[in-house]
Amino acid sequence: MHLGLNIDHIATLREARKINDPDPLEAIFIAKNCGVFQITIHLREDRRHINEFDVERIIDSSFLPVNIECAMDENIIDFICKKKPYKVTLVPEKREEITTEGGLIMQNTKIKDVIAEFHKNHIQVATFIDPDMQSLELSKDYGADGIEIHTGSYANLSLMLYSNLKRTPNTIKSLENTDLKSLLQDCITQIKTIAKNAKKLDLEVYAGHGLNYFNVKTIAEIQEISELNIGQSIIARSIFVGLKNAIDDMQKIINNDNFY
Ligand code: PXP
Repeated sequence: MHLGLNIDHIATLREARKINDPDPLEAIFIAKNCGVFQITIHLREDRRHINEFDVERIIDSSFLPVNIECAMDENIIDFICKKKPYKVTLVPEKREEITTEGGLIMQNTKIKDVIAEFHKNHIQVATFIDPDMQSLELSKDYGADGIEIHTGSYANLSLMLYSNLKRTPNTIKSLENTDLKSLLQDCITQIKTIAKNAKKLDLEVYAGHGLNYFNVKTIAEIQEISELNIGQSIIARSIFVGLKNAIDDMQKIINNDNFY
C-alpha cells in the first residue's frame, strides 16, 4: 500500500504566525527516508496553508512524486500545468469549509475539459469522489486516470461510534439516534463496491480523508486500493512523537505490520 503524505497542516501551523517555520519542504526529506510514496499538497483558493511558493519549491526540490489537490479554478489550473507535478487530484472546494466536505459534483462537464488540459501537460488526474456509481462512471467517461474515494463519511461514522464525539458540542447531529453500526457497515460496503468497479473500469483506486491510526486498517485491507492520502492524523501525532515515528507508525498499520 502506497502512502501519500499530505503536508498541508505543516503550512497551516506556519500560517498561524506567517513566518518561515515550520517549513513543509523539510518534511519531504523525512518522508522519503520513511518510504513515503508521494507528497500530497492542496493549493486552496484561499491559500490558507500551501501557497504558490511552496508548490514551486516542493516540486523543484522534491525527491518524491508530488500530487496536487486543486479545485476547478482557472488560475490555479494554469499555474499547475506550468509546474507539471506527477499527479493532480481534482477536489471540490468551498471557502467556508474547514476541510474538503464531499466528493466532486461530477455532473459538471467542465471537469472533462480540465482533465484533458492536464493530460496535454502530461499530468495524471484523479477525481476525488464519494463512493457512488454515477461519480465513478463519469470519472471514467471524462478520461480520469484514477479515482480517490472520499472516506470522510466512513471516518465520521467511526468517530461517532468509537470516540466520545457524541457527547461533545462537535457531535454530528445528523448521525445521532441512528444505527451507527449498520450505517458504518453500509459505508464500508459502498467503498469496497466502488473500488472493485473502478478496477474493472481500469482506473487506479486511491482513498483518503479523515483516515487515522484507529480507522485506517479497514480501508487499507481493501485489495483494489493502492494508495492512501493521509495528513491531519499523521501531522497531529508528529507533535508528540516526531514526524518520523508518526509516519512509521502509520506505515506499519497500512502494511499490516501489527502496530497495535
Ligand atoms: N485526500 C483529499 C482529496 C483531501 O482533500 C484531503 C484533505 O486535504 C486528504 C486526502 C487528507 O485528509 P486528512 O488530512 O483528513 O488525512
